[in-house]
Amino acid sequence: MAIPVIDFSKLNGEEKAKTMAAIANGCEEWGFFQLVNHGISEELLERVKKVCSDCFKLEREEEFKRSTPVKLLNDLLERNNEEKLENVDWEDVFTVMDDNQWPCKTPGFKETMGEYRCELKKLAEKVMEVMDENLSLQKGYIKKAFNGGEGNSAFFGTKVSHYPSCPHPELVNGLRAHTDAGGVILLFQDDNVGGLQILKDQQWIDVQPVPNAIVINTGDQIEVLSNGRYKSVWHRILVYPEGNRRSVASFYNPSLRATIAPAPQLVEQAKKDDPQVNDQAYPKIVFGDYMSVYAEQKFLPKEPRFQAAVKAI
Ligand SMILES: [Fe+2]
Repeated sequence: MAIPVIDFSKLNGEEKAKTMAAIANGCEEWGFFQLVNHGISEELLERVKKVCSDCFKLEREEEFKRSTPVKLLNDLLERNNEEKLENVDWEDVFTVMDDNQWPCKTPGFKETMGEYRCELKKLAEKVMEVMDENLSLQKGYIKKAFNGGEGNSAFFGTKVSHYPSCPHPELVNGLRAHTDAGGVILLFQDDNVGGLQILKDQQWIDVQPVPNAIVINTGDQIEVLSNGRYKSVWHRILVYPEGNRRSVASFYNPSLRATIAPAPQLVEQAKKDDPQVNDQAYPKIVFGDYMSVYAEQKFLPKEPRFQAAVKAI
């Protein structure tokens, strides 16, 4: 079983219907799919790999060696304790956004990542339009819902992570299992070092590295908006004794002030298809309230988060 790999360029041609169907299947059955020929140039992607790896070496690696997960693992080994560390991730991570501080010592980081983010945001919007069409929603519906009215723009962030080699991968996760809180996530993962797995039919399966592909997955807000047609799927990252996994994840999330609710036409449709169906399976949520709950409950089941976010209002 392998995550679907879809040629995005075929959307513009005679294979459009087949490609739309493949994306619908990726969203409905997998929650994850990989895009190739997505329009982001190989030259830019190569630069992204270089500046992110350079940045880790130059500005992050030493700090990681002194970080909490490394200390906790060393403590564990000193005490001869073989109990797995459940509350930390073997991860070095920082986020770049439009208005925060970026690493500044790595040559080319700012220019390259600025250019990359611009391209990825456009790709995210194209993917959302495909979802609109596949869900029979008006073109631009998801983007509009995420932008939440004037002055409340959607949030586009990019998380640059590394998962350095770990001498005892059986004792710690790279990133503990979770579902993503937001909208659409576009991941540029390492060509060689795997580790990302998704939970499908109760089984963890690998998201196989495909060079220069962009992995797309849907977050909790797409699940709400699609009234459960598209599920946000559990995933995790394992670490290995060899290799330093690089992972660049961009996320197109609603504005914190946007109210996210199931699209009414999808609720109607679900009721028509099955009159017994619970037509209030997903509540209306202000995304900022959801994020407050998520900050505390990221690694717990998502369903109670929806209810807790409603109570938080
Ligand atoms: Fe995630």
